[in-house]
Amino acid sequence: MELDAKTQRFESRPDRVSKPVQIGEVKQVKFPRFSTRMPEFDRLLGGGLVAGSLSLIGGDPGIGKSTLMLQVSERFAAQGLTVLYISGEESIEQTSMRAQRLGIKCKGLYILAETLFSNIKCQIDELKPDILIVDSIQIIYKGELSSSPGSVSQVRELATEFMHLAKGMGISTFLIGHVTKSGEIAGPKVLEHIVDTVLDFEGDRQHGYRMLRAVKNRFGPTDDIAIFQMGGDGLTEVSNPSRLFLEERTLETPGSVIIPTIEGSRALLVEVQALVAPSAFSTPSRKSTGLDPNRLILLLAVLEKRVGFQLHNCDVFLSVAGGLKIVEPAVDLAIACAISSSFSNRSIDAKTAVVGEVGLGGEVRAVPRIEIRIKEAIHMGFEELLLPKRNLKGISKQLAQKIRLRGIEFVDEALNVKIS
Ligand code: TYD
Ligand code: MG
Repeated sequence: MELDAKTQRFESRPDRVSKPVQIGEVKQVKFPRFSTRMPEFDRLLGGGLVAGSLSLIGGDPGIGKSTLMLQVSERFAAQGLTVLYISGEESIEQTSMRAQRLGIKCKGLYILAETLFSNIKCQIDELKPDILIVDSIQIIYKGELSSSPGSVSQVRELATEFMHLAKGMGISTFLIGHVTKSGEIAGPKVLEHIVDTVLDFEGDRQHGYRMLRAVKNRFGPTDDIAIFQMGGDGLTEVSNPSRLFLEERTLETPGSVIIPTIEGSRALLVEVQALVAPSAFSTPSRKSTGLDPNRLILLLAVLEKRVGFQLHNCDVFLSVAGGLKIVEPAVDLAIACAISSSFSNRSIDAKTAVVGEVGLGGEVRAVPRIEIRIKEAIHMGFEELLLPKRNLKGISKQLAQKIRLRGIEFVDEALNVKIS
């Protein structure tokens, strides 16, 4: 390669110039993949971890990134793969203590407590691992750079180095990154465009479950999730999340409504709770947890204006059980039903679920992916689903036989129909 005198950029050699290829003539290659031996995790990755891929796993400190990666490392090592775990944040003793707690004692899993990149690279060249875990990218540094570890320039340079290692030597690499105060991994999302896969590890520390979300995936679906539960012996996959979210539900409680909501590629049954109580103040309180507060105000206005509820002197509290967040508008009708149920102090049938978007005129609008919502409701033993009338079209007869489907056109129909 020669340096162009004018631009100071490298010129590529004439014999190495890429040629355009017709898209139909490109040979399809199947990427070799390693199984994590966790079916949910494999599914999230698009059918296992692609050899030579670079993934970023981000999340708040203490959420369980190191635990998950150590558990995955063991499963890889148990298949005869060589795994190198760079433990920059914790000493070898701390990591092995954690491994003991998790019951890990297999061959082929190496731990290296090192933070200087050049030393790490020497060890990688020597060991030639199949899988590399970097815990965390923010603590490793390159001596050539004057900036401190975790700075944008360090993190960016390191990610590029690890990418070259991953692609050049075919090492599947996981970079662990802490979410910084601004809510972005390693500063201003500096890594997302470099890596092949971005996984966000989220969850409420008060609740035992954790959610791994694929926000970018060059080798599989995006916006899909896998759910784990943190216990005394590490993380276990939750194959039936609806059961987890419905576990603590008390039946026949006014204000409680179940909605089949969509998370990634799957439907989850989740409980929405409302509490409507007389307000002691002239300005009533309106609070929501896990749901958009603006949506609550809007739905209250719809209920007042279109249905005639007198809610202006009531406090209204709304929450999603289990610490989950629901952002899709398909939750509107469930919110309206929950408010109305609490207001009238009459519970909604325990085997009924509700879904639908509510417009400003009180009309109930169609929601996407109704079939998988219905299937999940059937799967969890629900006998009736209130859904937008327009969604009734195109539902297979086979499905409609297994559950009572009640089409709703205006919000008041759901409230009249359902409050028993
Ligand atoms: P950790 O993996 O260290 O989080 P991160 O690497 O994302 O900072 O997990 C820390 C939390 O997990 C800690 O609060 C203890 C808890 N934990 C368990 O509850 N059970 C376990 O088996 C392990 C290993 C950790
Ligand atoms: Mg950690």
